[in-house]
Amino acid sequence: MKAVILAGGKGTRLRPFTYMIPKPLMPIGEQPIIEIILNQLKNNGFNNIIISTGYKENLIRMFLNGADKKYDLNIKYSNEDEPLGTVGSLSLIRNELNEDFILMNGDTLCTLNYNELMKYHKKSGNMATITLHKKDIHIDFGIVKLNGVDIIDYIEKPRNTYFVSMGVYVFEPEVLKYVPDEKLDFPDLVKILIKNNEKVGGYIFEDYWLDIGRLDDYMQANEDIQLIYNKLGINKENFDKNDKKIPLSDIDLDNEEIEAVTNVLKSKWLSMGPVTEEFENKFKEYLNVKNAYAVNNCTAALHIAHKVLGIKEGDEVICPSLTFVATANSILYCGAKPVFADITSFDDFNISLDDILEKITPKTKAITLVHYAGYPCNMDAIMEIAEDHKLFVIEDAAHASGAEYKGKIAGTIGDVGCFSFFSNKNLSTGEGGMIVTNNDSLSEKIRITRSHGMTTLTWDRYKGHARSYDVIDMGFNYRGNEIMSALGQVQLKKLDKNNNRRKEIVDLYIKELKNIKKINLPFKDYKEKSSYHIMPILLSKEVSRNDFIDKLKENGIQTSIHYPPIHLFSYYKNKFGFKEGMFPKTEFVGEHEVTLPLYPTINKEDVKYVIENIKRILE
Ligand SMILES: Cc1ncc(COP(=O)(O)O)c(C=O)c1O
Repeated sequence: MKAVILAGGKGTRLRPFTYMIPKPLMPIGEQPIIEIILNQLKNNGFNNIIISTGYKENLIRMFLNGADKKYDLNIKYSNEDEPLGTVGSLSLIRNELNEDFILMNGDTLCTLNYNELMKYHKKSGNMATITLHKKDIHIDFGIVKLNGVDIIDYIEKPRNTYFVSMGVYVFEPEVLKYVPDEKLDFPDLVKILIKNNEKVGGYIFEDYWLDIGRLDDYMQANEDIQLIYNKLGINKENFDKNDKKIPLSDIDLDNEEIEAVTNVLKSKWLSMGPVTEEFENKFKEYLNVKNAYAVNNCTAALHIAHKVLGIKEGDEVICPSLTFVATANSILYCGAKPVFADITSFDDFNISLDDILEKITPKTKAITLVHYAGYPCNMDAIMEIAEDHKLFVIEDAAHASGAEYKGKIAGTIGDVGCFSFFSNKNLSTGEGGMIVTNNDSLSEKIRITRSHGMTTLTWDRYKGHARSYDVIDMGFNYRGNEIMSALGQVQLKKLDKNNNRRKEIVDLYIKELKNIKKINLPFKDYKEKSSYHIMPILLSKEVSRNDFIDKLKENGIQTSIHYPPIHLFSYYKNKFGFKEGMFPKTEFVGEHEVTLPLYPTINKEDVKYVIENIKRILE
């Protein structure tokens, strides 16, 4: 529906304010009148707005710059060089007015439902419908009726009731034939219509209406603003949309972490030592796994995992392409070839069992899987395939701290599990990670590889457990440290509580988004225990993901993409000749997935705000 807002007047009755500010920009509460009107029109189903400007048009345009996006409205401007009156201005936009439209003053503050008004008008068969408000006019004097100079009646302080025009009209486009290309005001038009036997009708509106003509009215409007917001169902927060910032993720940190880190600093032992050992022990206990080693990130853990399993040049390792590049890079570090497998389906973004089976060759040595978004893969089936084909299984559990598959903690089911404690992860230490295994002989190799292939650590020697060391293999400096481990211990204590909180948020998203046709929610019927690391949604083909992301961003909502497929990165394309179309499901997700804000400290109001915005954009 279309509305024309008259915003070109000089507002002479509100001088001196209107010497500086055009009346539609005068603030009522924290918003200019015209913005309240735009919000109200949008809420009443109007999408196309023409603002007719004249006096101080630059200020109006400048102030409303961005209002189209903020309120999701199509806003056009029509400027009068010469004042054309309240109706004459329509002559400049004849071509735009090919459906019934509302014409209204840009300073009309009322709680009228413009949608209802439009429905009434259409039903009435009127060429013009004038909104009317009942107004008692009280004269504070005794008045007389005269016949010449003879007094024939005396009325003390009379009170009369009139129906006054509210400055809001609905027209059929046919009315334009009575609108000349010159100045014309509304009363003149009404007279012309009546003279030509056109149907002109009234719409009586009894609720709140205020004509902000004079200073008293303006002050009254400011007093009434809360009442108006309430009646219009406008949450004041909506006005502050642009100030709202909902990040994609956030960390639950408090004094306990600060204290733990401070204690490490005070101890003056910052590199790997007792706090790291304690963290490893607690992590082992939490996971119910025999061995755990703190490393400086999950990429290092993945590299060590492939290295200690003997993956080398000439070998192939099957992994998903829909993951962070570190998963595949860690295979390359060992000189082996990552062989990608597609995802299972648009409901399950984890690696496809069928595609794993397709990709197995005599050169395949391992399957490196990712528990996407924290939803464990079908581990029974993967372990069976691995056993049948004598393959190792590496779990990239970067997303999956605290997730469980059939009672076992994700990351402890395969040969080696790798965890990330990067800033956005469920257990966060900024940078950090852990590598775990139940295999004792692998464990020893991991321990050595993590620290230059050395037999002892500085800490062991400090404790007096060793005097010197040997280097028995080529290793790396992938050690964790005390600051990370102090943070990690506190974060580990919070992990279950925070994962439960994530689940509540995901449940709310699913409940509210599951019926939107243009969205598919992967894992919405998932049966095992996820860690709910991220909240992915899949947009249908016809939705432009860029527009969707931009619109959310304009409303302060940060999103991300998980993931651009690895096989389509230039480096991988150039090195291995991968092409588009090789992994269709992965590529579709790569093009249409959007990750929504999810973190334990997000409040439900903010989640609802995200949901409302998504509904508004897609519905
Ligand atoms: C699936 C996956 N694997 C590996 C990594 C690498 O983790 P890190 O940053 O700790 O090296 C990430 C990090 O985001 C990841 O998401």
